[in-house]
Amino acid sequence: MRHLLSTAELAYDDALRILDTAEEMAAVTSREVKKLPTLRGRTVVNLFYEDSTRTRVSFEAAAKRLSADVVNFSAKGSSVSKGESLKDTVQTLDAMGADAIVIRHSAAGSAAQLAASDWSEAAVVNAGDGTHEHPTQALLDALTLRRDWAAAHGQDSPRGTDLAGMKVLIVGDILHSRVARSNLWLLRTLGAEVHFAAPATLLPQGVEQWPATGHYSLDDALAAAPDAVMLLRVQAERMGGAFFPTAAEYTRRWGLTDERLSVVEKLTLGETGKPAVILHPGPMNRGVEISAAAADSPQTRITEQVANGVAVRMAVLHLLLSQSHQEESHS
Ligand code: CP
Repeated sequence: MRHLLSTAELAYDDALRILDTAEEMAAVTSREVKKLPTLRGRTVVNLFYEDSTRTRVSFEAAAKRLSADVVNFSAKGSSVSKGESLKDTVQTLDAMGADAIVIRHSAAGSAAQLAASDWSEAAVVNAGDGTHEHPTQALLDALTLRRDWAAAHGQDSPRGTDLAGMKVLIVGDILHSRVARSNLWLLRTLGAEVHFAAPATLLPQGVEQWPATGHYSLDDALAAAPDAVMLLRVQAERMGGAFFPTAAEYTRRWGLTDERLSVVEKLTLGETGKPAVILHPGPMNRGVEISAAAADSPQTRITEQVANGVAVRMAVLHLLLSQSHQEESHS
């Protein structure tokens, strides 16, 4: 694995290797050893053209816990406002030394374009490209789901296992969601069954070709007894001021309201009797796609998702950079 650009092209073995390495990273950093020396002398550049809290901060924390140097670039306040291109920005940062570039950009395909270019030799990690993909988000979601799934089935450790047989319902603004796309491909690779529930206005063209079961009613989708319910953020900023349906209508028909939470409270992880889980990638619109009670429910894994994001990003940087280091030393 030279770059991490999408989950659509992530092989089963590579996905399991990342998840198992993330488990090791989480185990090590939860003990007294907070920092590993693996990436000492290496530089990770965070190149963010779109706003972020979780992804940017957790890539920074992950790189620092591996002893890498970190350069944070945010397009806001940079020479991008003077018209500097992506190519020139990358070449400028690369000239200061970059072993990995973590890029978030509003243009779908930007990470792949950078990886295919001769602008830099650095490993490229896609931290979200337009509505296309957000692979590390899907990996941290899978890490979170796998822990509950394995524990509910009596396994001492989730390592080496996948999500075969798990039914995951993804709800909401599928049209604008790179999280939904990355989750779809990764969940399918790991053997899970994917269901979508969304208003017709927030579904992309061609969705009927996707390997997922669609529902036009959230209540019908919940009646199909999912093991996990993943709410998506309504991305009003990508709707050009035309939020349709309205926020109130959306909440009434598609929100995880207090009434629907009482339905989810009765769902279980398969036949195990353990409670089903609720995920949200954040940031949340509390009171729109998820009620405050649902966001703070014991079934919710939102804080765990954030913590797992650091472990997954440590694993990705470690695997990409230690591999490229081995290739360099053998050349
Ligand atoms: N989930 C996610 O990508 O959050 P941020 O936009 O805060 O990084």
